[in-house]
Amino acid sequence: MTKHISVMPDKAIELLDVKEDGIYVDGTLGRGGHSRLILEKLKKGKLYCFDLDEEAIEESKELLKEYDNVVFIHDNYMNMKNYVDQVDGILLDLGVSSPQFDEAERGFSYRYDGPLDMRMNKEDELSAYDVVNRYSEERLADVLWEYGEEKFARKIAKKIVENRPIESTLKLVEVIKSALPNKVLSKKGHPAKQSFQAIRIEVNHELNSLKTFLEEMDGILKVNGRVVIITFHSLEDKLVKRHFKKLTSVEDDKRIALRPEQVKEADYVLLNHGDKPDEAEIAKNTRAKSAIIRGVKKVHGKVS
Ligand SMILES: C[S@@+](CC[C@H](N)C(=O)[O-])C[C@H]1O[C@@H](n2cnc3c(N)ncnc32)[C@H](O)[C@@H]1O
Repeated sequence: MTKHISVMPDKAIELLDVKEDGIYVDGTLGRGGHSRLILEKLKKGKLYCFDLDEEAIEESKELLKEYDNVVFIHDNYMNMKNYVDQVDGILLDLGVSSPQFDEAERGFSYRYDGPLDMRMNKEDELSAYDVVNRYSEERLADVLWEYGEEKFARKIAKKIVENRPIESTLKLVEVIKSALPNKVLSKKGHPAKQSFQAIRIEVNHELNSLKTFLEEMDGILKVNGRVVIITFHSLEDKLVKRHFKKLTSVEDDKRIALRPEQVKEADYVLLNHGDKPDEAEIAKNTRAKSAIIRGVKKVHGKVS
């Protein structure tokens, strides 16, 4: 089993500023790396851990068995408000874990042959097979372009449709390669990486989960509570950056409607301006390369 190396662990814990009696949420448990660091600081408090992946939950239960103040929840982190209220901190470390990526039968990898699956939650209906074999050529091209920033999205979508049915990951790699010019094939980096990333994001509705969470996080966060998010994709980071900016500024229309003495400061403050891992971390863990971590702290309730 491949071990998952947690990304920017020290920075994540520093931004979260764990209080020993606080209530915390790890929305993306994985193999419990960040959770363990939170638990080491929690003496009397409680940690709620979410993951869509049953295997992540089962393995982390074993990995974290010495702690009795942790609750494991097999659900999407976007449903957090159904389980917790008034929490001191929430951490999200988005994307896939190394074990998911490296197990051929999960279908996430363009390096090993496996079924076209890519579902984080095996109970979900939509799989990579459906996206690859059932989407219209146009819709498929849009997915590859939007979520993979794949310049050859249209050409790849056309080749996929011509070669249906495509049953396995390596067959899909072969079809993707057949749509790409030699100059792209000879470049560094795997030629199917962006397409696989795009299909995975579509299968797991990853941006939708993040958008819902961002809209709802304020409702479950205590004053002085913190939210820390690690992203691996420019679209995710854009969503987080934009939402954190909105939370940390007072809208102009509110300023206009109120007298100066009535204008409160913003509800949140930024804890950083987006940090990235250093070269030493990237050398040890290439998965960290595209990571950006951002945090906010809630300083008071809504301006009314
Ligand atoms: C990058 S890994 C987290 C690794 C973890 N921080 C650690 O240190 O071990 C991301 C995990 O989040 C899970 N995940 C992704 N999107 C999710 C969602 N919307 N709800 C719940 N879990 C999700 C994945 O199944 C995966 O296990």
